[in-house]
Amino acid sequence: MSSAAGRIEVLPELVKNQIAAGEVIERPASAVKELLENALDAGARHVEVDLALGGVSLVRVRDDGIGMGARDLELAFASHATSKLREVSDLDHIATLGFRGEALASIGAVARVRILSRERGAAFGAEVRDEGGAISPVREAGSAEGTTVEVRDLFFNTPHGGASSSPRPRSWAAVWT
Ligand SMILES: Nc1ncnc2c1ncn2[C@@H]1O[C@H](COP(=O)(O)OP(=O)(O)OP(=O)(O)O)[C@@H](O)[C@H]1O
Ligand SMILES: [Mg+2]
Repeated sequence: MSSAAGRIEVLPELVKNQIAAGEVIERPASAVKELLENALDAGARHVEVDLALGGVSLVRVRDDGIGMGARDLELAFASHATSKLREVSDLDHIATLGFRGEALASIGAVARVRILSRERGAAFGAEVRDEGGAISPVREAGSAEGTTVEVRDLFFNTPHGGASSSPRPRSWAAVWT
């Protein structure tokens, strides 16, 4: 019955996330969109966006939403990890902009990302990093209430440098158009 090694293999988690990033994070504007959606889903009333080099070098989105505690930060970069969906029937009445639990995992696979967050009413904030799929432990960190997600060097961890190898002015325009 069993033969020598077959041809089919399950892809490593990082490769899955890099492929997902290729599908969802086409350019810096896509990362801005995902992070803004997360801020809105978190009930933010004020959102601040900072960009450097059209988002390739830095996208920072700061919100005053519900924030994340340490337990949530531990899972924030895990793929298929979401607070917005529990079972498939929830899809019939989904009220959030995201639900796949894939955006942060994908962005973290191809960039250097830091999430700094403090839950509403919590005494302390915490932070976690994902640098090209290498996820740090969560540690305590000073933070305002709400969440800041900082994405640096977008596409550094993709073959051929991904969109960062395309002309930067185009990337810049893509954020604004
Ligand atoms: N700005 C934020 N404020 C509070 N919680 C957040 C924020 N961003 C992300 N989260 C939490 O992290 C989880 C994962 O975010 P992610 O964007 O990866 O997935 P999602 O929004 O659930 O689905 P999708 O992949 O469709 O965007 C969210 O479900 C949410 O619980
Ligand atoms: Mg999302």
